[in-house]
Amino acid sequence: MLIFVALNNKTRILAKKSGFFNEFLKERKTVGAVAPSSKFLMKRMFAPIDFDKADVIVELGPGNGVFTKGLLAEMKPGSRLLSFELSRNFYEHINLNIRDEKLSLINDSAEKLEQYLALEGIHKVDYVVSSLPLAVIPDVVKNKILDSSVKVLGKEGKYIQFQYSLNARKLLQSKFKKVSFKFAPVNIPPAFVYQCSNNS
Ligand SMILES: C[S@@+](CC[C@H](N)C(=O)[O-])C[C@H]1O[C@@H](n2cnc3c(N)ncnc32)[C@H](O)[C@@H]1O
Repeated sequence: MLIFVALNNKTRILAKKSGFFNEFLKERKTVGAVAPSSKFLMKRMFAPIDFDKADVIVELGPGNGVFTKGLLAEMKPGSRLLSFELSRNFYEHINLNIRDEKLSLINDSAEKLEQYLALEGIHKVDYVVSSLPLAVIPDVVKNKILDSSVKVLGKEGKYIQFQYSLNARKLLQSKFKKVSFKFAPVNIPPAFVYQCSNNS
């Protein structure tokens, strides 16, 4: 997992502007990155998503909302995006900057996914798009998040997750029947995008 990378000037400015680096310094154990993800990584994350068919997407760990904006721009009218962000500062940043009736922004841990879906009367999710730093999240929490994701996605849904290493492969393979990954080199730092499902 990334702890420190040399940032180029453009990324430094971007990270500073969004408060990302400050948040990383304050919440090292949960933020897990020094800068927002690149457009290149976003494209890789969205590649498995059929936006014409997606009624419900869950986003885990939106940070400053880089993927949130991208998802909302692609999602069809009437669809729903539920985004879980633990950090109060990131939550407030998104709340201030992104207005869209498709979005329900939740300032709580992703481990309460099933509880919030039940409150919204949602029983099935088409995609879970996760930026959670699995390497620094306690086992009990990440197991709960992944087990809930498996449950709400059923056989048809897909779980998409980026990480800065391949350390999460075994864990994801223990939860999903199919796990593949692609490399996303144009990102700071370079990342791996996992696509997981229980579709046999
Ligand atoms: C690596 S950052 C990703 C931010 C953004 N999606 C991006 O790609 O630039 C991970 C985010 O996950 C959030 N996070 C960590 N643990 C969480 C949890 N249990 N529930 C919800 N969000 C969490 C952090 O606050 C942080 O915003």
